[in-house]
Amino acid sequence: MTVTWTSGYGINEAGAFVEWGPKGGDQVHSPAGTLTFDRNSMCDAPARTVGWQDPGFIHMSFLNELWPNAVYVVSLFLHMILILDILTSWGINCSMVHMFGVNNYQFSASPYPGQNSLQRVVIFGDMGKDEVDGSNEYNNFQRGSLNATREPIRDLKNIDIVFHIGDICYANGYISQWDQFTAQVEPIASTVPYMIARDWIILWEYGLWGAECGVLAKTMFYVPAENRAKFWYSTDYGMFHFCIADTEHDWREGTEQYKFIEHCLALVDRQKQPWLIFLAHRVLGYSSGISYAVEGSFEEPMGRESLQKLWQKYKVDIAVYGHVHNYERTCPIYQNICTNEEKHYYKGTLNGTIHVVAGGAGASLSPFTTLQTKWSFFRDYDYGFIKLTAFDHSNLLFEYKKSRDGKVYDSFRISRDYRDILACIVDSCPSITLAS
Ligand SMILES: [Fe+2]
Repeated sequence: MTVTWTSGYGINEAGAFVEWGPKGGDQVHSPAGTLTFDRNSMCDAPARTVGWQDPGFIHMSFLNELWPNAVYVVSLFLHMILILDILTSWGINCSMVHMFGVNNYQFSASPYPGQNSLQRVVIFGDMGKDEVDGSNEYNNFQRGSLNATREPIRDLKNIDIVFHIGDICYANGYISQWDQFTAQVEPIASTVPYMIARDWIILWEYGLWGAECGVLAKTMFYVPAENRAKFWYSTDYGMFHFCIADTEHDWREGTEQYKFIEHCLALVDRQKQPWLIFLAHRVLGYSSGISYAVEGSFEEPMGRESLQKLWQKYKVDIAVYGHVHNYERTCPIYQNICTNEEKHYYKGTLNGTIHVVAGGAGASLSPFTTLQTKWSFFRDYDYGFIKLTAFDHSNLLFEYKKSRDGKVYDSFRISRDYRDILACIVDSCPSITLAS
């Protein structure tokens, strides 16, 4: 578990650490690193100019060797060193040590990979932040984000982990917006893991979208990527295995990311972790969003053409994207053809992957094309998020909830056994010989 917080004190003024341990048990101290950045880290205006604000200091501590499922308490501390110019007439400086902290955050450690227990995952993209009184709204663009945080906070006891798959806060080069965003999500992020996926950061690096160079996201949010300049990573949560792509880097066959994706999908033991989920910011699968439809692609160029072989071979259950600000669900699909016509209850093998756009968390909504496709099962031009509930190794519930009321507006179930995952489907079986 990674704990991150900010303060106004750098390493010359304070040592940052966390005091943590099992609830009611012995507490230990773990050091936190302290980082910051300056205006020169920003690529261009407005982040370098009118949008600049001193970010203070970002402290990050890693809590390791957690007992699965155990409840932990965490307190954040700054070990202050105050240099007091007292007794100056005697020419003596006195160092005084003072500590202060913020107490009593609490979280449950993740289940062991493969563990059979109730596990609930919330996924959304493109949220942003907003003010309740509308006082500082940028182009009235992210009004939906208030409901998008309010509803998961209300239901937090029924959520175990959250994935925010890109387009994090739309700061547009105004650094103070990040403080507002992190304050808005703090009730969630201080209780359950809050994982992010990479979005348009690379564009910021080229001077677009506020010119923050992606520094804020990379400094404030830790992801277990091997190379933090390349934001692809894998992570486990009990019976789930997640492969998270970085759609600002090339994913086509032969690239470093393609190799990562194949490795991530291949390494999972589906008997222990049957629910294999692919996440990415841009739509690599299918979307009826108007911007893709006018291009005639229904996807990012070379999205599914490059990756569908892998999704099929490794039998990815569900792929979820953001970037398009609405909700859409496809049939189980492979090579543009529905592999299963059922809409709400899948028994046995899916024969393909279900693709979902969940980019309607809060930023201004994206319209759909009027074109009707066979593969588009459900569309909603509204704000919402999805929730996956694994009851055990054989039963998964998928729900799409509107964030305005938390009610379910689309859902399906998957019921199957391990042998259904092993079953041969088109382009999934390894070639065999006649050796006996
Ligand atoms: Fe977005």
